Amino acid sequence: MWTGLLTAPLLFASCGERAWPSWDMARHPIRVDTLQLPRFPRRPHVNGVSAASRVYGPLCAQDHFVLNAPLVEARRNHDCTIESDRYLINILGRNGRHVERRDLQTGATELFAVPGHDPAAHPLNDLNHIYGVRVQPLGDVASNSSFDAKSELWMVCGFHGDRINGEISSSYARVLDLRTMRVRLGPKLLRAGGACSALALEIDGPGTPEHICAFGGTDGAHNTGTFLKSVACYDRRRQVWHEPLGELPVACDHSNAILLPPSLCHPADPARVLLMNFRIRHYADERPEIWAIDLPVSATPRWYLFANETGTAEYLQPRDAAGVFTTASGRYVFNVGGVSYVMRDMPNGKRRRLSMKHSTVRVFDACARRWAPAGGDVGYGYFALQSCASSKLGLAFTCGGQPPDGSVSDKISDNSHNCIVHNLLGPSFGAMYGEVIDRRRQ
Ligand SMILES: *[C@@H]1O[C@H](CO)[C@@H](O)[C@H](O)[C@H]1NC(C)=O
Ligand SMILES: *[C@@H]1O[C@H](CO)[C@@H](O)[C@H](O)[C@H]1NC(C)=O
Repeated sequence: MWTGLLTAPLLFASCGERAWPSWDMARHPIRVDTLQLPRFPRRPHVNGVSAASRVYGPLCAQDHFVLNAPLVEARRNHDCTIESDRYLINILGRNGRHVERRDLQTGATELFAVPGHDPAAHPLNDLNHIYGVRVQPLGDVASNSSFDAKSELWMVCGFHGDRINGEISSSYARVLDLRTMRVRLGPKLLRAGGACSALALEIDGPGTPEHICAFGGTDGAHNTGTFLKSVACYDRRRQVWHEPLGELPVACDHSNAILLPPSLCHPADPARVLLMNFRIRHYADERPEIWAIDLPVSATPRWYLFANETGTAEYLQPRDAAGVFTTASGRYVFNVGGVSYVMRDMPNGKRRRLSMKHSTVRVFDACARRWAPAGGDVGYGYFALQSCASSKLGLAFTCGGQPPDGSVSDKISDNSHNCIVHNLLGPSFGAMYGEVIDRRRQ
């Protein structure tokens, strides 16, 4: 099995029949290692390496890879984004004090310092359980809505403090300017909180500057804080918070929020927000429900149950603190990693909470409203992560997070340095899922 670093340019531009959407792999190789997961080799080769890899290179033969150099800062409860289909950017998080930018073509990594404090005296660089939302700065030409024109990443919730259960909810937003790689102070939040999910929504109508909406989260420490039911939306033009989406059906944290485009499955389908992969109790009760609200919102906003598939199969186990990314059409929502908590009777007669970290990728079909397994298994269970993706590359990325063993631990050494690369043209994902987008690219 080939395990060396890939330093020569890859000599292919397509995987057999499957063309890379618009990416010249021969000229701009992504530097990857093979599937071998260096730190947690529970399953040393996940899907194996077929003969095809010798012909097309490993990118075509495998669903998941490890990026060839580890993260400089091992982090979790952070977020990531892809810029210019070239830069993989990992942002703050537990034990992360920098914004780390990897050039996927050259492999060069830069760490950007985040100096300064918010008015509550918390360092701007101390923020975990964030959920980044990309928007175009207000001053920019309104007609240009390309993803890379969305050069600001807003973080409208988070915790301070690396110690688990010793967190303090953040009271101030932070904004990463992807052009300068500087983080600036954002507005005071409507409610202090961490572990929300968030979306940019055109509350004032199509083509108007998005409001940045935070869904749920926890006010207080991770083990004792109050779960929030609120959807706080920041109107950047008026510089005020408001709550046009009403209250969530349940108070929750660790969720993922997805925006489905209109007419997705039927011409009359409205645009929708989906909320999934959340929990409603501390370290327990992650839920299978997927809640939805239609857009534009009415004067009396109504959340409703969109799907609630349950069953004993692993891919149907509810999970939280997981990553998501979607296909370009918005129909398929991929869900990477995440955790389920179970109580087990131990030999000493005591009951103990065990965290089951998922190593699989599953996909939610927003038209069939059902889950299915997809893309196999990355080789080790992990959670406290986010994923990001690039349609041009046909790749999604999940970096850091907390891999298995030990239940929930503070130690930096329990953070992963790895970046797993999900190959949406790989053998299990297949051509059906070939075009991916960042979950914030709408
Ligand atoms: C939109 O913005 C992108 C990125 O900043 C730029 O490359 C592109 O030329 C712009 N397009 C127009 C029509 O202004
Ligand atoms: C979702 O399904 C589960 C399992 O059948 C059930 O316990 C739960 O009440 C359902 N949720 C709602 C909101 O109906």
